[in-house]
Amino acid sequence: MTEGMITIAYIAASVLFILALGGLSNQETARRGNVYGMVGMLIAVVATVLGAQVTSYGTVLVCMGIGGAIGFYLAKRVEMTQMPELVAILHSFVGMAAVLVGFANYLDPGAHLEGAERVIHEVEIYLGVLIGAVTFTGSVVAFGKLRGVITSKPLLLPGRHGLNLALLLVSIWLGATFVGAHSVADGMMPLVIMTLIAFLFGVHMVMAIGGADMPVVVSMLNSYSGWAAAATGFMLSNDLLIVTGALVGSSGAILSYIMCRAMNRNFLAVIAGGFGTSGGTMASSEGEQGEVVPISAEETAELLKNANEVVIVPGYGMAVAQAQYPIYEVTKKLRDKGINVRFAIHPVAGRMPGHMNVLLAEAKVPYDIVMEMDELNDDFPEVDVVLVIGANDIVNPDAQDNPNSPISGMPVLEVWKAHTAVVMKRSMATGYAGVQNPLFFKENSRMLFGDAKSSVESILTAI
Ligand code: TAP
Repeated sequence: MTEGMITIAYIAASVLFILALGGLSNQETARRGNVYGMVGMLIAVVATVLGAQVTSYGTVLVCMGIGGAIGFYLAKRVEMTQMPELVAILHSFVGMAAVLVGFANYLDPGAHLEGAERVIHEVEIYLGVLIGAVTFTGSVVAFGKLRGVITSKPLLLPGRHGLNLALLLVSIWLGATFVGAHSVADGMMPLVIMTLIAFLFGVHMVMAIGGADMPVVVSMLNSYSGWAAAATGFMLSNDLLIVTGALVGSSGAILSYIMCRAMNRNFLAVIAGGFGTSGGTMASSEGEQGEVVPISAEETAELLKNANEVVIVPGYGMAVAQAQYPIYEVTKKLRDKGINVRFAIHPVAGRMPGHMNVLLAEAKVPYDIVMEMDELNDDFPEVDVVLVIGANDIVNPDAQDNPNSPISGMPVLEVWKAHTAVVMKRSMATGYAGVQNPLFFKENSRMLFGDAKSSVESILTAI
């Protein structure tokens, strides 16, 4: 492929990536957005493989075959509820790729650079390896936390902000030593030490994050992985990788900002790591809270049939149980009876941004009855019945009432203000943030215990 053709292909791919991001901002156009992204990526891969830098097609094709097969197998097998873990581990690959490309590029820069050009190139390598290493270990820890193999409780080392600052200062000093080194052998030592420090920082940063704040971290690591890719693009002088990395980096940063606003967290404190937990104790409304009042599916069906206004609040448990299909059947039945039914979506319900919207779209729930938290929160006092399906943290009144709670300050759906709130879950277990929920013990709350799908199916039969 000629240089000109490659440039045209790269521009086309960049435009398609921008269209993909535009499409993903809206549910109706999301599918089209995905197609743009896939076509853009296909063009990018083909143009890169056919570029002048690739000389051994056999090696590239074998590697692509193996990588593609593993990716295909994993993506086919992954459950919807495991998507965030998959995304987290994919971010870690981008981070590791940036580290490896950085080292390879330092050992064999391809061209002999002098003066300012050499300094710029070495700064690119240093920053690329730094961001990549933080992204790698941060994403691996995020993967562990999302999978539940690492505790979601924040690890709060004494003087952790001081430690982070010290790591940062040492990294800057190592950077100066690295750029000032006269030979590759001299520069290798500061680069390796900085990489180890960055690995450590990534672990420490994400370990310090409490359960409920994980969504912000996942989108932040998404942003970091974009910047790591952009840095790799600079190292390899690949314009498309720079553009793509910048798109992912900036859209991830915007998403992190939106998430922070939704969770009432400070954006800059997030970037510094270990936010939202400083000074706060882990105390919450643990211990004896009173009695809960159980309810049967038949009684719930009765409540629903006699209601005028019904709001359904889906959470992570709905995703686990796959209860979106029967709940839409219930919705249709109630709407046929003239009852106004709406869905209330919390920005961090489930385990990934837009998780609930995807599930409801899967079940063909019309978009116009799916409301954002802010659109619906003021209406709860006029709502007769709220059905909370497998949601916990996002409906926890402690976020407003208990300043010592780890989720204090996080906006929540105020379901306890409705006439009756029916909570469907299997037990009294806590949600992702690991804190007890006083909602279950309120006078107007009823607990419908059991798997969400079976409970909803029983309600459907009873209606
Ligand atoms: P959670 O607070 O995690 O609560 C889910 C509840 O569903 C659990 O209490 C569980 O109780 C119940 N459940 C699980 N399986 C069930 C089943 N088969 N049938 C019925 N109930 C079931 O969920 P949420 O309210 O959606 O809040 C989301 C949490 O995840 C927040 O803390 C958020 O910060 C965090 N998070 C979100 C994201 C994003 S981006 N959305 C990413 C990472 C973390 P039982 O075990 O008693 O059934």
